[in-house]
Amino acid sequence: MTGKVEVLEKKIKEAIEEVLIDEQPRTLFTPARYILSLGGKRLRPLLTLLAADLFGEESERVIAPAIGVEIFHNFSLLHDDLMDRADMRRGHPTVHKKWNANTAILSGDAMMIEAYKYIARVPSPFLSRVLNLFSATAMQICRGQQYDMDFEQRTDVTEAEYLEMIRLKTAVLIGCALKIGAVIAKASDDDAESLYQYGINIGLAFQLKDDLLDVYGNPDTFGKKIGGDILCNKKTYLLIRALKNSSPSQRRELDRWLKSEEFVAEEKINAVKKIYDELNLKVIAGNLIEKYYLASLDCLSSVHVPDERKQELIVLSENLMYRQK
Ligand code: IPE
Ligand code: IPE
Ligand code: MG
Ligand code: MG
Ligand code: MG
Repeated sequence: MTGKVEVLEKKIKEAIEEVLIDEQPRTLFTPARYILSLGGKRLRPLLTLLAADLFGEESERVIAPAIGVEIFHNFSLLHDDLMDRADMRRGHPTVHKKWNANTAILSGDAMMIEAYKYIARVPSPFLSRVLNLFSATAMQICRGQQYDMDFEQRTDVTEAEYLEMIRLKTAVLIGCALKIGAVIAKASDDDAESLYQYGINIGLAFQLKDDLLDVYGNPDTFGKKIGGDILCNKKTYLLIRALKNSSPSQRRELDRWLKSEEFVAEEKINAVKKIYDELNLKVIAGNLIEKYYLASLDCLSSVHVPDERKQELIVLSENLMYRQK
């Protein structure tokens, strides 16, 4: 028997196959098709469809904005990989590596515009609310991405600043994906907000886990190069805690690697990782992930629909906690 999630995933897959297929020039749209067809988890559109389903709404009325959110996410990856100097995504070369930086910029821009076209296909009674939410979210993501870049140059980033940065760059899109589904399904304002907060907490756990996998993941399943964050001096939770918890000699070593401009990538990654290990940061980060995961379940439990309808979302969030990709 095929489960609900598999049915929805199939719908998402089929809809994504139609995105930007025949447009010209192909030099603009082939890179967009490339990133979209590499797949990824397609978590966000699934959340939109599951949120709508929670309130009994058919996927037909929410599929277009769900795909819009996924196109937007993929656009953000094109620009993010350029900004993060990342060579690999979903187990394949990033767009700016396979083509060049200009391609990542302009194909990314075109994808962002296409994302808006899909969002604008929401049923008209919800159009202005959904568009406003989506635009506010998109601007928050820009702010989060800028903090992420600014933080590369700093060594005094606090845990609170980090959490705000990841809320903006990652969590709000997950909250937005859910809320769009809830709004179109005519959920009450309270329920739509609880679902949004569920998404924020899932999103915080999700980015913390991404930071953890960037150091401790298996490159074959993770699909990105391990250690990329360390090479960029990203102020991940791990690095912030390392700077805070380090002994004087560990701190001197961290400072030396953060300042060093010429190094062998593997040496820097191994040295910083060794300090993370010594400070037990994998476990400490794991505890924080669990905290946000539990907080997310609390938010979901306040949504006024019977518990059995929430099963798919509960299983999905649990899988995200243990994910390896
Ligand atoms: C990657 O998102 C960017 C982050 C917010 C960490 P995903 O981990 O959802 O990437 P895909 O879409 O599954 O490849
Ligand atoms: C990305 O955060 C967030 C956005 C794309 C907006 P990361 O830079 O950690 O994502 P990955 O690790 O490259 O997927
Ligand atoms: Mg990145
Ligand atoms: Mg980034
Ligand atoms: Mg990352």
